[in-house]
Amino acid sequence: MTASLATIDRDRLSALTDRERAAYRASFPASREAFAAAGSHLLGGVPMTWMRMWSGGFPLYYATASGARLTDIDGHEFIDFCLGDTGAMAGHSPAAVQAAVSRRYGEFGGATTMLPTPDAAWVGAELTRRFGVTHWSFTLTATDANRWAIRLARQLTRRPKIAVFSYCYHGSVDETFIVATQAGPQPRAGNVGAPVDPGETTRVLEFNDPTALERALAHGDVAAVLMEPALTNIGIVLPEAGYLDAVRELTRRSGTLLINDETHTFSAGPGGCTRAWNLDPDIVTIGKSIAGGIPAGAFGLSAALADRILNDDTADLIDTGGVGGTLAGNALSVAAIRATLEQVLTEAAFEVMIALAGRYTAGVRDVIESRALPWNIVQLGARAEYRFCPQPPRTGGESDAAADPQLDEYLHLYTVNRGVLLTPFHNMALMSPATTEADVDAHTRVFAAAADELLA
Ligand SMILES: Cc1ncc(COP(=O)(O)O)c(C=O)c1O
Repeated sequence: MTASLATIDRDRLSALTDRERAAYRASFPASREAFAAAGSHLLGGVPMTWMRMWSGGFPLYYATASGARLTDIDGHEFIDFCLGDTGAMAGHSPAAVQAAVSRRYGEFGGATTMLPTPDAAWVGAELTRRFGVTHWSFTLTATDANRWAIRLARQLTRRPKIAVFSYCYHGSVDETFIVATQAGPQPRAGNVGAPVDPGETTRVLEFNDPTALERALAHGDVAAVLMEPALTNIGIVLPEAGYLDAVRELTRRSGTLLINDETHTFSAGPGGCTRAWNLDPDIVTIGKSIAGGIPAGAFGLSAALADRILNDDTADLIDTGGVGGTLAGNALSVAAIRATLEQVLTEAAFEVMIALAGRYTAGVRDVIESRALPWNIVQLGARAEYRFCPQPPRTGGESDAAADPQLDEYLHLYTVNRGVLLTPFHNMALMSPATTEADVDAHTRVFAAAADELLA
């Protein structure tokens, strides 16, 4: 079967990419000029250096965003499947969150007072209903939720290390920038100013390999396995049948805590993969989308762990123990989480979003199969991502090997030049409650045209 797959003509790909790059430069002059002007006082010319990731040499500057639509400062409209790389999975500025934010910040006033509001307890109960673990605390980012969860896990187990999967991403968490290679664990390429070699803090292994996990945990020094139930930051790598049961069994048997990072896998349903797949982690972390785009994150612990950590006299959770942030749990973020969970990312909304992602996946798969392209697409609830290998990868390492920056650039430029925005870090598309079937079909048409031009 592999023999009959289409081959990509690299010269043709290069010529088409040049054409799309030129079209991009010509179509978005106001963004190009804004980027050039920003260079003097912004590091890398952008508000955050990863914004340079956009293909085309400069990012689009956006003017407005609503639901699943963005407009840029040149006046173009885009269907947004990037959705802030999940931060805007609820859609941009959903009405319920707008109302809650303006009520909290405008009408009632204040965001940062060092005092709680009643919204927090409602949110804690709702997160418990969705994700199972019972005692929640707030952060401003998913990164911090993971950092603090790791600290709690170390404190609770009195063990020094964590275990992660090769090519995972859990935010800018020092311990996680490590990959498994033939030559053993190595810091991930480009790891900036690492405080210590991550090999000192972390055991790394490939996903979907219970034996490797058993080996890693046998040392008895791993406080927690920090994992996404499906990898989502190196394409989507789904767990094989029985794998997550094996993870739970092995972690329990070795006295290791299990942290499910649901920041992206929240796409699987109202309670993420944890609920959709009936998982039983000790700690859950989440962020990005839960406050409708307002900065917020959270981590939740089982009741037993909460009790132990609160009664641990050597753990300073109140003052300078390393878990906390002045603005964490602020009233504005918590009001936004409440509105998002209560009124936007509801059970009914997920049904629609997941069906749309199914339509998207079927459309892309049809293009791939009908053109015999050596690519595949994987869906995880409301998100889907295609990857440049014939079969879905089983591990982060396999998926990394299928990376093709040239194809990424071509497809990102081709789609953005035709009004469709995909996330710049992946070939990921995410559905919001505001996304429509017409949006999905528009992408499928553009994707088919890009494939046809490539193969012509
Ligand atoms: C699974 C996962 N966890 C945590 C994070 C960190 O999120 P943030 O950058 O908002 O802190 C990310 C970011 O992409 C992520 O993909």
